[in-house]
Amino acid sequence: MKQSILLIILTIVASVAASAAPVGVIPQPAGWHSGHGVAEVPPVVTIAAGDKQLREAATVAAGQMAATGIEARVAGRGKAWVQVTASPTLGAEQYRLTVRPEGVTVEAGDAAGAFYALHTLRQLLLASQGGTVECCTIDDAPRFGYRGLMLDVSRYFIPMEEVKRIVDIASMLKISRLHLHLTDDNGWRMEIKRYPQLTTVGAWRVARDEIFPGRMNQREGEQATVGGYYTQRELRELVKYAGARYIEVIPEIEMPAHAIAAIASYPTLACPVVEKPVSVLPGIGGKDAAIVMCAGNDHTFGFIENVLDEVMSVFPSQYIHIGGDEASKEHWNRCPQCQERIAAERLADSEELQGYFMDRVNRYLQSKGRKAIGWDEVTYGNPKEDIVVMGWQGMGANAVNFAAKSGRRFVMTPARKLYFIRYQGPQWFEPFTYFGDNTLADVHGYEPVQPDWSEAVESQLWGVQASLWTEFCHTPEDVEYLLFPRLLAFADMAWRPKGSASWSHFERSLDTWLPVLDSMGVTCAASMWNLYHKAREAKGKVRLALSCIRDDVEVRYTTDGTEPEAAASALYTDTLTIAQTSTVRAATFAQGKRKGEVLTLNFGVNKATGCRVTGNGATNALEYVLTNGLRGSNRCSDSEWAGWHNQTAEMTVDLGKEQEISKITLGTLANSTLCVAAPAVVCAYTSTDGCNFALLRSVALDKETRFAREARIIDVSIEPDSVTTARYVKFVAVNSGSVPAGYAREGSPTWLYFDELIIE
Ligand code: ACM
Ligand code: ZN
Repeated sequence: MKQSILLIILTIVASVAASAAPVGVIPQPAGWHSGHGVAEVPPVVTIAAGDKQLREAATVAAGQMAATGIEARVAGRGKAWVQVTASPTLGAEQYRLTVRPEGVTVEAGDAAGAFYALHTLRQLLLASQGGTVECCTIDDAPRFGYRGLMLDVSRYFIPMEEVKRIVDIASMLKISRLHLHLTDDNGWRMEIKRYPQLTTVGAWRVARDEIFPGRMNQREGEQATVGGYYTQRELRELVKYAGARYIEVIPEIEMPAHAIAAIASYPTLACPVVEKPVSVLPGIGGKDAAIVMCAGNDHTFGFIENVLDEVMSVFPSQYIHIGGDEASKEHWNRCPQCQERIAAERLADSEELQGYFMDRVNRYLQSKGRKAIGWDEVTYGNPKEDIVVMGWQGMGANAVNFAAKSGRRFVMTPARKLYFIRYQGPQWFEPFTYFGDNTLADVHGYEPVQPDWSEAVESQLWGVQASLWTEFCHTPEDVEYLLFPRLLAFADMAWRPKGSASWSHFERSLDTWLPVLDSMGVTCAASMWNLYHKAREAKGKVRLALSCIRDDVEVRYTTDGTEPEAAASALYTDTLTIAQTSTVRAATFAQGKRKGEVLTLNFGVNKATGCRVTGNGATNALEYVLTNGLRGSNRCSDSEWAGWHNQTAEMTVDLGKEQEISKITLGTLANSTLCVAAPAVVCAYTSTDGCNFALLRSVALDKETRFAREARIIDVSIEPDSVTTARYVKFVAVNSGSVPAGYAREGSPTWLYFDELIIE
């Protein structure tokens, strides 16, 4: 009871603080007090800064102000509208910004603090109306020192100009680290003078039209033509460019896995048990993805050390990321050299061999005065050396547990919250990508510290990172689409004080940012305006719920097939009951304008609609998606499909009473590219009592159909020879087994997916 009262009080305090904070400033400042009166904004914002470092910060910020529509000039030490001074009482990245009628003062703990203060001011000016800005004092400091953005430049070689453009915008959002994922199976992106083949060979893959997971590996005689790399000069320029914006660039060199580009360039890096040379992978790579650097061969470590020497000469960051994720032990387990190493070092197994591998490279970095970061799989091998772990799997448990055990710092970038490759809105409106959804609201609302963390572990959390994997990017616009506006939500989460999240405040602030991003030509997703739907069975009917992550929109809908309109169409206020075959069309509206895409739901009502289905362990939503009257799209993750992994599926529908049955249909999906195969055999049974079932028919599907390379919906229909009466219909669908040879995902176990279950 006491706790809940405390919670209510805290919530009220947080929401009062947030609602008082100035609209338009992202990330939301830590502290804000209103002052008296207003300040007139001069036509040109002049800035005087106390010393060289502050002046440099002001000069870069003034350029960014100009790029976002505010004329600004740094004006030496003399009279200026904005006075920037250093404050010995403030810490790193901290600032105090005071707006008075006569002008603005910035006191900053360091140059970064001054830079951030000027960006807060820039946003106050952009959000101001009528040439004045309200007087106020903002006392601000970040929650986390590590506010990172990872760009995967291996899967898609992001042009350097685009990397800089993203860095520029990220700096306006007070992001402090750029983690560059420079190497992977799909391309090596950094010039290494000692190893020229890393860029003559390793930077290039074959062209493929298929989506990433459907791409077949390079065939003999094919030319690798897609890719590119950054020269060391370009990367040094990037370090300088980012540094001038208070962003440190942390390079990542992947090892021992995700290293096919390096191994394709220098095949002796692989274990000797790897028989055939490998090429840079255009996609996931099938069996080739299991090829990793040999841990038994000292030559591997010589190569890595030489590469790291050049990496360290280009990147002055204290930390170097050394990968460590998803390393198959298949070849290490068979490699005599690796086994010899395990014996000589008295290691328990190949997992500890990876611990040895990462520790050895880590020690080399330490000998050069640097430190290592690794993905959370590095914890499996019990590393002895100091390493910052990035928690990405699940909700980052490996990193948290390791931090608790070791007392070391860690960074959270859980895939389920902060991987920007994931869908950012209802999937029917999004370009194809992997996995489930990480909406703008999910990113904004993420709280890394979980209730069961100790205070000690909480204090070891260095920060958070948005990670953008680029498997589905082909252009700079594709990259921007996945980044924006989610990067703004991330920046808010990474900076604001714990417990101070305000979604509605963020929405309003975002609305002042959107035209600015637009004026800068940034491709920005509009997914936040789109409608999610949930159609659930309810006693023989279906109840349809519509929702939007924006909480400041109206939802309007039609049921006659026409496009919904701002005023004329019905206002959605509560769930709709669907009792007959019909089309619902709905969209969001604000200020009389349609905001999102029109959602069209074609409900097909049949004898099974709204009836309860039971089954044997579908991994999701079995109880309502199969008979909700809606067909899934050709994306198995669109929330309309019931899925079973690597097992036979059973499902039984209860029609409520005995009924005549003339046709039964079970919709299924085939897309071997995503390891989804249609069933080998579907058996349909009927019953009047739910206990004794009689086989009605079994249907077998051919291999070509089951393992279709592109997504295909297949209806398995059965029409009884004579009139059949039953209350229960059961399906048993046999899994097709692993993807066969000759397909991109050869050898992978498969999923079964079903939707819809139709009885006529
Ligand atoms: C990862 O997503 N494999 C770090
Ligand atoms: Zn080996």
